[in-house]
Amino acid sequence: MTSRKHTLNMYRFRPVWAVLVGWALALAGCNMWDKPPTHSVGHKHKHVGVEEGTHLRYQEPDRYTWQYPERVIKALKLEPGMKVADLGSGTGYFTFRLAEAIGSSGKVFAIDIDAEMNASIDKQAVAKQMDNVKTILAVEHDPLIPEKVDLIFSVNAYHHLKDRADYFKNAARYLKPGGRVAIIDFREGAFRHFTARSVLLQEFKTAGYALDKSHGFLPRQNFFVFSRAKN
Ligand SMILES: C[S@@+](CC[C@H](N)C(=O)[O-])C[C@H]1O[C@@H](n2cnc3c(N)ncnc32)[C@H](O)[C@@H]1O
Repeated sequence: MTSRKHTLNMYRFRPVWAVLVGWALALAGCNMWDKPPTHSVGHKHKHVGVEEGTHLRYQEPDRYTWQYPERVIKALKLEPGMKVADLGSGTGYFTFRLAEAIGSSGKVFAIDIDAEMNASIDKQAVAKQMDNVKTILAVEHDPLIPEKVDLIFSVNAYHHLKDRADYFKNAARYLKPGGRVAIIDFREGAFRHFTARSVLLQEFKTAGYALDKSHGFLPRQNFFVFSRAKN
């Protein structure tokens, strides 16, 4: 038979056990979600709105310390008058830097499937008085670039795309002769969403491109430049 003292002890310890088990489950859950997924093709970020506080999404000041935007732009060897597609342009972190590099005689097509992102870029283009930036509302499987470009440039968007070898096989028709594709995306383990180097290189090979350059100066991302492979 259960004594009154034993019953009291059980009630006293139950909340303690409940808290301990709760913590253990919470910790297990955190570890599970913190682990990078093995493959993150075509995922969508939770929509948190384009403007948060005074910062535009994707434009935190901290990004400067690992994104090295000036070095990236320099490495692209852009010339005045060039036409560039910024694929998955978001809130324009690179769009306006590209637009400055190619000057008023050039054009940057800011390509995104999210109309709210494009609206943010349109607003900034007006404020900055830059009429060499044009936003394009793309569809998932096609960037819908309105004319041929010298460069398709994409930062942190590659892992969002689906059927990427087909995507870039199709996108080749938007490149001028000698045109290039530059892809910057997170390295394996650098962020929850990433594209493994070997996967990205294989997909471009399958899509019919040759690797021109692999830049190693970005601490968190791979940075590759491709052109159409010669048969
Ligand atoms: C992580 S953000 C990167 C934004 C910007 N390139 C930057 O570096 O700040 C990825 C962007 O890709 C866009 N995106 C996702 N899938 C896309 C697709 N199939 N075509 C064009 N844009 C896409 C998203 O809407 C989002 O704005």
